[in-house]
Amino acid sequence: MKKVLITRKFPEQFVTPLREVAEVIEWHEELEVMPRAELLAQVGDVDAIWATLEDRIDEELLDRAPKLKMVSNLAVGYNNLSIDLFKERGIMSTNTPNVLTNATADLAFGLLIATARRLVEGADYLRAGEWKGWSPMQLTGMEVSGATIGIIGMGRIGSAVARRSRGFDMEVLYHNRNRKYEHEEMYGFRYRQLDDLLKESDFVVVLTPYTAETHHLIGERELKLMKKTAVLINVSRGGIVDEDALYNALLNKDIWAAGLDVFEKEPIALDHPLLTLPNVVALPHIASASVKTRHDMFQTNLEALLTFIDDDKPKNRLT
Ligand code: DGY
Repeated sequence: MKKVLITRKFPEQFVTPLREVAEVIEWHEELEVMPRAELLAQVGDVDAIWATLEDRIDEELLDRAPKLKMVSNLAVGYNNLSIDLFKERGIMSTNTPNVLTNATADLAFGLLIATARRLVEGADYLRAGEWKGWSPMQLTGMEVSGATIGIIGMGRIGSAVARRSRGFDMEVLYHNRNRKYEHEEMYGFRYRQLDDLLKESDFVVVLTPYTAETHHLIGERELKLMKKTAVLINVSRGGIVDEDALYNALLNKDIWAAGLDVFEKEPIALDHPLLTLPNVVALPHIASASVKTRHDMFQTNLEALLTFIDDDKPKNRLT
């Protein structure tokens, strides 16, 4: 029987089918990451790992896992996997594309509106008993309808955000490694070089994958190119935005606000300077967190693992 390590407590209905065909070892916590030392101690004789984006499957771990042949990652992003080493060592890996596109795009758009229209600040203001009645310019924000949105990373989720923007009569600009001519023709989205996108957009939405090339893609220089009234939204990975530079840009009013679902270090420390700013809406990495989507993600990974156990080639392979 193959041995599978699950690095978190997952809903039982997605683990039972695995137990029937494999020996399963699980971490017993749902909310807490399996400690690194525990993870390293457990991988010695496993054939597969069912991992979350919090687990670094890197050289140190691979060196201790000589039997490892398969990693299923409960995320579409896979910056936690050392993919080049996987290729070198013939280790398969799969992720969860497609099933989380809509939930993530919905959240990106919700965060954009929440940030632009100061929803969290307004709700806090009311509950703090500060609301003395309607007032003409109180808690006024940035208009979403008819504004220009600039999407960095026009993959599946970028395209889904862009299509939602059309419902708000927004002009859609995008920047991507490869130009997407079919999107330009079909939907009228317009390609821009990164600097031009930053200069022209009222909303900049970061949706590119996190790689060595996109580390701190948005730093001091890029933030200074943006409009002073612009809003930055990041639902991809925290490391794409230089948080120190973002803090300074928000403090100095180089940009107007930021909506962040992801951070360089997660969970973000409660004394992080970004959390002191009223013009930051911060969420705990919940872009794909609808019940349906999370279940679909589990199911996608489960099917890949069952296929691997059957000595077949799973779908959604990264390597
Ligand atoms: C992903 O899938 O990469 C998200 O960050 C979590 O759903």
